[in-house]
Amino acid sequence: MRVITVCVGSACHLKGSHEIIKYFQEAIQRAGLEKEVELKGTFCMDQCTDGANLLVDEELYHVGSVEEAKRIFETEILQKKNQR
Ligand code: FES
Repeated sequence: MRVITVCVGSACHLKGSHEIIKYFQEAIQRAGLEKEVELKGTFCMDQCTDGANLLVDEELYHVGSVEEAKRIFETEILQKKNQR
């Protein structure tokens, strides 16, 4: 099971974490990965100035837009899934 954890603290929220979560929800559904990818929210990760922040498993990403979240989903989730 892969886990995407998006910060929903107020600084990250202002930088678009809500839209990023929405994107991931739709992308996971579209790819039919509901049983393979868990989407979670977390409170402030103490990296507010770099946000919006998210983790894919243990790896931290600073995401400035939904476009960036999309790239991460494609490279970290979809491509790695195909490699298995
Ligand atoms: S609000 Fe997201 S790191 Fe602080």
